[in-house]
Amino acid sequence: MAFSLLLLQPLSLPNSTNYSCGTVTIRCVLSDNYSRSSRVPYELKYGQSRVFHELPSGLKMEVLLQKANPQRMVERGSSSSNSDLPPLLFVHGSYHAAWCWAEHWMPYFSRNGFDCYAVSLLGQGESDVPVDSVAGTLQTHASDVANFIQKGLRSPPVLLGHSFGGLILQYYIAYMGKQDSSGLPSTYYPDLAGAALMCSVPPSGNSGIVWRYIFTKPVAAFKVTRSLAAKGFQTSLSLCKETFFSSEMEDDLVKRYQELMKASSAMPLFDLRKLNASLPVPSCAKSSLEILILGASDDFIVDIEALNETGRFYGVRPTCVEGVGHDIMLDCYWERGAEVVFSWLKGFLQ
Ligand SMILES: *[C@@H]1O[C@H](CO)[C@@H](O)[C@H](O)[C@H]1NC(C)=O
Ligand SMILES: *[C@@H]1O[C@H](CO)[C@@H](O)[C@H](O)[C@H]1NC(C)=O
Ligand SMILES: *[C@@H]1O[C@H](CO)[C@@H](O)[C@H](O)[C@H]1NC(C)=O
Ligand SMILES: *[C@@H]1O[C@H](CO)[C@@H](O)[C@H](O)[C@H]1NC(C)=O
Repeated sequence: MAFSLLLLQPLSLPNSTNYSCGTVTIRCVLSDNYSRSSRVPYELKYGQSRVFHELPSGLKMEVLLQKANPQRMVERGSSSSNSDLPPLLFVHGSYHAAWCWAEHWMPYFSRNGFDCYAVSLLGQGESDVPVDSVAGTLQTHASDVANFIQKGLRSPPVLLGHSFGGLILQYYIAYMGKQDSSGLPSTYYPDLAGAALMCSVPPSGNSGIVWRYIFTKPVAAFKVTRSLAAKGFQTSLSLCKETFFSSEMEDDLVKRYQELMKASSAMPLFDLRKLNASLPVPSCAKSSLEILILGASDDFIVDIEALNETGRFYGVRPTCVEGVGHDIMLDCYWERGAEVVFSWLKGFLQ
């Protein structure tokens, strides 16, 4: 039924329309000469670099990094040296990739003394594309993140996930400190220093949101479906703006992010039907893990009921920033969310 299309990511529908972004690049991972530069790469900012983390499968995952800025810390008279602070590791959602954090949040948290890392999940951004119709499952994406933490970081990070990236984090949290043998190879999930779920898909997935939208906001339901499942956001600037940003966002910026989003997603993150079967995420024993649940009042996709559901699941009162759209890290009011995250970090790290 049509409304089952109301999903937060593309379905693997047959390609009946032409993309407006020009040539469709088909990438495979079979040869050493596989070209990562076939799509417009995100231009990094000062102090940022890009590395590729090799997963046990041999596939490579793009990681953007920006170390803590020591100069600024001295200027601010910050007492703690960056070695005291855990690194921050950001995980994006559908249609996005590591670049979405490099725009504002990585510079912001670097200035505030944190080493920042952002991964591009497989099939997204500059990461390798698996030979499959979808990029992975909750388990494989979480396992890729765990592998990077184990091999690529020196100390337990604070993990921050947005939208579907938040759902991947929830899977991670359920296995934190444990071995998960449900996939091959089995994965160990290293401890975290904290976890932030931002505009996150709730533990039961998005089917609750789907039904609420159909019954209470049918116009919005239609629009979100057209925007996300039918990828209308890629061709309509106004739909892109309404879906991801606050209404004050300038069109030029929306256009720039629209281009980056189009280029970011070589394939869907998940097969949603299979995803649904693996939900809700396993509940975790009450732990001492610091968890932040952050929403945005102008989020067109994740509503307040979904935010509250995630809050109840973890026994944490959610925080909602006013006047910000779903893309809390790219919105013109990105500082509002960043400041909430920073004061949450200060609250338990000092
Ligand atoms: C896609 O583009 C090609 C070449 O420009 C054209 O021949 C074809 O009719 C287009 N298909 C659709 C569905 O628009
Ligand atoms: C890669 O490209 C180089 C030259 O462009 C070629 O000599 C080499 O055989 C290629 N390797 C593979 C695995 O295709
Ligand atoms: C997903 O599962 C839930 C309950 O397990 C069900 O209510 C919902 O209809 C399912 N959604 C889809 C798209 O299959
Ligand atoms: C969400 O939870 C808050 C309390 O945390 C409550 O005041 C509010 O009514 C809830 N909203 C919805 C829509 O469930």
